[in-house]
Amino acid sequence: MNDQKKILLIIGGGIASYKSLDFIRRLKEKNFEVRGILTRAGEHFITPLAVASITGNSVPTDLFDPENEAHFSHIELARWADLIVVAPATADFLAKAATGLANDLASAIILATTSKVVFAPAMNVRMWENRATQINIERLKSYGYEFIGPTHGSMACGEYGMGRMLEPVDMVAEVERRFDLPFERKYRAIVTSGPTREAIDPVRYISNHSSGKQGSEIANALYEKGFEVVFIAGPGSALPQAGMEIIHVNSANEMLNAATSSLPADVFVSAAAVSDWKIAEYTDHKLKKKNQSQGLKLSFVQNPDILQVISKDKKNRPRLVVGFAAETNHLKANAIKKLEKKGCDWILGNDIGEETDTMGGDFNEILFLSRTENDKWPRMSKKEVGARLADRIYQYINSEGT
Ligand code: C5P
Repeated sequence: MNDQKKILLIIGGGIASYKSLDFIRRLKEKNFEVRGILTRAGEHFITPLAVASITGNSVPTDLFDPENEAHFSHIELARWADLIVVAPATADFLAKAATGLANDLASAIILATTSKVVFAPAMNVRMWENRATQINIERLKSYGYEFIGPTHGSMACGEYGMGRMLEPVDMVAEVERRFDLPFERKYRAIVTSGPTREAIDPVRYISNHSSGKQGSEIANALYEKGFEVVFIAGPGSALPQAGMEIIHVNSANEMLNAATSSLPADVFVSAAAVSDWKIAEYTDHKLKKKNQSQGLKLSFVQNPDILQVISKDKKNRPRLVVGFAAETNHLKANAIKKLEKKGCDWILGNDIGEETDTMGGDFNEILFLSRTENDKWPRMSKKEVGARLADRIYQYINSEGT
């Protein structure tokens, strides 16, 4: 077929390489043409014969093999691919690629190609967390290389943590996404974002400084992970990338209606800064100036608590409900209280003291709380917070029995 996309899979030497044969099979089922090569270390886990049998193509193994070079050189292979996937990408291979080494077939291809290259890392959690690996990854990203995974999970080495390669079915979805091919969005997320506006009269309202930046970054990251996303935007909220359903609302009541009518969903993320109060009695004409000494007295009543309503919904409660706690003091104690009172599963606490610039700014410092965990994330951009949260959400929703 003319529009058949060509994938070159570079299989590195890690125990996760056993997943690569299933990955190839699934790619072929989706009509991709696949060629595979193995690093020297990869050959310890998977044989070239297995890769050749399943791809239906020969498997060159050596940069300096005169037969290979005459037949299908490393430069030709680098040119042939529409997309190169390195899976598993070991810490060693990432280090090589980051420094531009080209002393074997796989690394020479990475250096020679102009096609998109995607790494699917797989390694022990300590190796993943090691500063050297993280610096290599930052460097590779700055060169324009992309990453899929890793995720949290149990590992072949018996440890638990970050560093597990994505499952083949998810890797295929990531490949399809890079070709803009339609793929099934298995999970549905609702994200609320931005402030609400509570009208006093036809021209005045009370509101807050929320920019909606954090909510829109969470929506972007969930969408990129393959979620179907409904984004409920308060007035002036930053908006996420195209492709999501966006519902614009003003007041907390409108936001609640939009949220409940968007159920059922797998995940609800309440990133909006919902006004706790609304005007007790809305005046349907513009309030006029009166005698100065009288001043103006407004009375307020409580708004519904959207997060609490969704968390306690008996019929349609999403499997995972995530709230935020923006606090100016006693962050941890208040966040723990909220987790209990509202009945949500996770709370992301953030300090919004004036000096932090969290509200409206581009950075955030999160205290992640669940019923079993209490994890302080370093200060990072709201985009990074979105990506980290989306990873955790995906991991939770996609794991069995939760
Ligand atoms: O109680 P507080 O407003 O501090 O709690 C913050 C969390 O509750 C946020 O996730 C916010 O979106 C949500 N919330 C809500 N409805 C309200 C007030 C807050 O969903 N009326």
